[in-house]
Amino acid sequence: MTTNFLWGSATASYQCEGAWNEDGRVPSLWDTYLHDNHLENGDIASDHYHRFKEDIQLMKEGGHNTYRFSLSWPRLITDLAGTINPKGVDFYHRLIDECLANGIEPFITIFHWDLPDYLEQRGGWLSKETIEAYVTLCDLVFKEYGQKVKYWTTFNEPRYYVFSGYFIGNYPPGVHNPQQTISASYNMMLANAEAVKRFKALAMPGEIGIVHSYGPIYGVDDRPETRQAMRDADNYYNNWILDTAILGEIPQDMLAKLAGQGFDLSFILPEELKTIKQNTVDFVGLNYYARVLIAPYETGETILAINNSGASGQGSSKVVVREWFEQVWDHANSEFTPWDTEIYPQGLYEGILMAHKKYGVPIYITENGVGAYEDVSGEVINDQFRIDFLNDHIDAIKRSMADGADVRGYYVWSTMDLYSWKNGSEKRYGLVALDFDQDRQRKPKASYYWYKAVCQSNGETIEATRQYRQDYFSMLTIINEETNEKERDEDVFS
Ligand code: BG6
Repeated sequence: MTTNFLWGSATASYQCEGAWNEDGRVPSLWDTYLHDNHLENGDIASDHYHRFKEDIQLMKEGGHNTYRFSLSWPRLITDLAGTINPKGVDFYHRLIDECLANGIEPFITIFHWDLPDYLEQRGGWLSKETIEAYVTLCDLVFKEYGQKVKYWTTFNEPRYYVFSGYFIGNYPPGVHNPQQTISASYNMMLANAEAVKRFKALAMPGEIGIVHSYGPIYGVDDRPETRQAMRDADNYYNNWILDTAILGEIPQDMLAKLAGQGFDLSFILPEELKTIKQNTVDFVGLNYYARVLIAPYETGETILAINNSGASGQGSSKVVVREWFEQVWDHANSEFTPWDTEIYPQGLYEGILMAHKKYGVPIYITENGVGAYEDVSGEVINDQFRIDFLNDHIDAIKRSMADGADVRGYYVWSTMDLYSWKNGSEKRYGLVALDFDQDRQRKPKASYYWYKAVCQSNGETIEATRQYRQDYFSMLTIINEETNEKERDEDVFS
């Protein structure tokens, strides 16, 4: 690892802050959606709003030199007119100052899904008004915090937010509408470029990137139809975020395919494409939980069944995108969490190399972790499964760096147990346990102490993973083939 490698953990405002109606904060779309549907919510969450000093002490004692967190838009700007909430602004000054005073580099996400409900009521990310409001938010936070913060990211996982909200329908606004999915996706990527543009125009110190829910693509075999499905899946899962944000180009074959399927793309304007082309990010944050295994599309309608219960784990997830691809879960030959998330560290190794070869920008692993139902009542919380998971993933990062990748930081998801969206607070990811039924007392798990040694040794205590599975055809193989072909072509002409 490099000497200035960032070692830390991550949270998001809605998932940990609580204080949902305190000090002038207004509702986000998540507050309204969860309250209206009588679902478990983040009203109190981890109570980080009141206990952030204690949490930062735990980070410091746990060897962290960085903390990734997000800013709550409904805490900062409280209406359509753009009214700024001084108490909200002050809260993040105090949080940032506390980090800096304790040797912890703040790594800020500007938008991690908690859109103010007043904007959702006007169409949310379907409306260009939201892009303008987002740039106003960026302007505010750059000017307020820009002299203290070196690392900014515009969005957390636009793909997950938009596809869950507008395609799968398991997140607010809870609709299944492919046309809206395309429009909202485009608007978020345009907003990303507009934010980068403002960042550069203000000549801010520091760097700006985007955080993506990375799903490195693998195929069940290497037939031509599988390769085509892999390309379409890569566009669906990765390229429309990464190509657009890093290269400034929306994948042309994806746009052609959408147009061929009759989708309306007339809202994409030439001057906006210019903005996207001219305002690309400095680095990329990759959130890695699992790779994505792809088979060719066979037949039938689109199916988007996501396991949010953690109950079965054996095949309740099913994704078929009509005319594009099918996603498969190889339960017979691989290991999965009860939420159907495959445990596959080799996908992080290959995924980093794929991103490195294709884009060449600095990479931060902005989330990585494992969710589980855990008994946190005892004195000692032995989460050996998490230690094994983190060890093998950090080992994958080390191997990718040894093979040339430029990785500059790693963030465990999550700092402490927090509210896990539709999965509720009992799906725990934290290095530190919380008792959600009582007073939310903090209790470090075994993984916290293990990770402390990792941070303090700059990764030296990581044990080498001995077995690397190579049982599927991967995008990296295709990229390597393309690179070889290109090199061969260049040879011919040289
Ligand atoms: C990422 C998000 O998608 O995964 C986090 O950025 C989220 O906000 C995390 O909590 C884990 O997902 P989940 O659904 O298990 O909470």
